Amino acid sequence: MNFEVQLGRTIFPNPVLAASGTFGFGLDFPRVANAIGGIVTKAITVEPRAGNPPPRIYEFPGGIINSVGLENPGLKRFRAEILPRLARLKSRLIVNIAGFSIEEFGLLAESLSSERVDGFEVNVSCPNVAEGGALFGQDPKMVERVTRVVRQQTDKTVIVKLTANFIDPVETAKAALAGGADAVTLINTLFGLALQKDGTPFLGGRTGGISGPAIKHFALFCVDRVARAVAIPVIGCGGIMNGQDALDFISAGARLVQVGTASLRNPYAPLEVWCELRLLCRKNRFKNWADVIGRTGRSS
Ligand code: SIN
Repeated sequence: MNFEVQLGRTIFPNPVLAASGTFGFGLDFPRVANAIGGIVTKAITVEPRAGNPPPRIYEFPGGIINSVGLENPGLKRFRAEILPRLARLKSRLIVNIAGFSIEEFGLLAESLSSERVDGFEVNVSCPNVAEGGALFGQDPKMVERVTRVVRQQTDKTVIVKLTANFIDPVETAKAALAGGADAVTLINTLFGLALQKDGTPFLGGRTGGISGPAIKHFALFCVDRVARAVAIPVIGCGGIMNGQDALDFISAGARLVQVGTASLRNPYAPLEVWCELRLLCRKNRFKNWADVIGRTGRSS
C-alpha cells in the first residue's frame, strides 16, 4: 500500500510525524527522523527565549501538563547554527513558528524559506505565553490574518496549529483555509492547572497545557468535527501513543498524525507508532489508504 501523503508541495513518505517540542530538531535520533513521515521542530520565535521558570512539567496518570514557554534559540541562531546541521537528515522538515505579532510571523516565514525547509507549522495555539499563542488562535480573524501573511511570504507548505481552548476549531479551521493554509494541526494542548498540597500552583509558569492519553478522545472529536465540516486537510495530534491511536485519528479524518508526549518518554515512539500502524493496515487487509482516511465520517 502506498502511504504517501501530499500537503501543499510537500510529499510525506508516510503519515507519522514527530510533533513540535517533543523531538527537538530531530538531530539526536536521525534513524527515527529519517524513517518517519517527517519532523516538526520546536517552535522558533524571532528573539531567543529562556522559557518559563521551573518546574515545567507536571506528570499525572493520563499524561502531562507542560509550561515550557517557547524556550528556543531564536531565529538568527536557528538559521545560522541549526538549519545547516539539518541538511544531514533526509526527513521532511516542518518548522514550527511562533510570532508575537502578525509581522513577526511574516518575518519568520520569509527568513526561513530556505531549500532545506519543506514547510511551516504556524503556532497560534501555545497556552504558555501572555501574548500571541492561544490568544491569537482563539480569534478566527487573527488566525486568518496570520495565515495570510505567512502565505504571502512563502511558497512552502503552510500548516496552522490550532487550539481547541474556548473556541470551536471549525471556526478557526475555516479562517486558516481562507488565509491560504494547506492544512491544520488539531489539537494543541488543553489549558491545565496543577496544584501542590498547600494549594499553590505546581508549575513555574502557573498554568500549562495538558497532553497525552487524557486528551485523545477530545482531540479525536475535534478532528472528526473539522474533517467533516471544512475542506482542509487535518493533521491529528493529541495522545497518540501507539499504532491503534494513529489509526483512530486517520479513521476520524486526519491525513497525517503527530506523536508528541509519547516521544518525551521514548524517543523511538514515532517510529514504533509508524511500524504498528503499518502492521495494523496489513492485519485489517486495507487495500487503499484513501479509503481508510475519514471512514468514521462516512459510516455515520
Ligand atoms: C511551550 O513551549 O510552552 C509549548 C509550545 C506549544 O504548546 O505550542
